[in-house]
Amino acid sequence: MEYHTERLILRQWKQSDLEPFAALNANPEVMRYFPKIRTREESDEMVKTIEQRIAENGWGFWAVEEKSSGAFIGFVGLNIPGYELPFSPVIEIGWRLDNAFWGKGYAPEAAHKALEIGFEQFAMKEIVAFTALDNIPSQRVMEKIGMQRGEEFDHPLLDEGHPLRRHIVYRIANLK
Ligand SMILES: CC(C)(COP(=O)(O)OP(=O)(O)OC[C@H]1O[C@@H](n2cnc3c(N)ncnc32)[C@H](O)[C@@H]1OP(=O)(O)O)[C@@H](O)C(=O)NCCC(=O)NCCS
Repeated sequence: MEYHTERLILRQWKQSDLEPFAALNANPEVMRYFPKIRTREESDEMVKTIEQRIAENGWGFWAVEEKSSGAFIGFVGLNIPGYELPFSPVIEIGWRLDNAFWGKGYAPEAAHKALEIGFEQFAMKEIVAFTALDNIPSQRVMEKIGMQRGEEFDHPLLDEGHPLRRHIVYRIANLK
């Protein structure tokens, strides 16, 4: 199953996505608000897990393709976090795009579609997003897709004193 927006395609992953995804995961600018960059092996492993979840559930962190060029630009989609959060259980919406494609409104465009799929096709009741308090670009995406700013919390996987530990959660409810 593929989903189309005006400029993008959300789809299952392909073999040819592995290389550009690894490059993006090794790019310190893209990974600025994450504790570390990822090796090729870790990146490939992540894709394997994501692919399986999409195959099992029909939803997940979809690969995003730019229609005009056919380029793989990153992922946007829905996921169940693999660790306990103060507000678990939740379904999160998340995004990670190659910086060559930032600033075009692609993340909000794809995220809108992901919310629509989650709410209309899979009857999800609520979707959250969370990010490091300093990650303003990501919070801008949350605002643009109509999410409400919630509370701050400490990320459970980051130690005290870690510069990215403080996080913020945003929420959006299914009004149907
Ligand atoms: C967050 C992210 C997905 C935004 O995607 P995008 O398609 O550029 O989204 P937009 O075009 O709507 O821009 C959103 C905000 O990003 C920032 N931004 C835009 N272009 C930028 C650029 N070239 N460099 C740095 N920040 C930029 C701006 O704050 C912008 O807000 P504004 O529109 O109010 O000015 C993208 O920056 C990204 O992948 N970042 C790295 C991964 C990440 O942090 N993911 C979130 C983890 S929770």
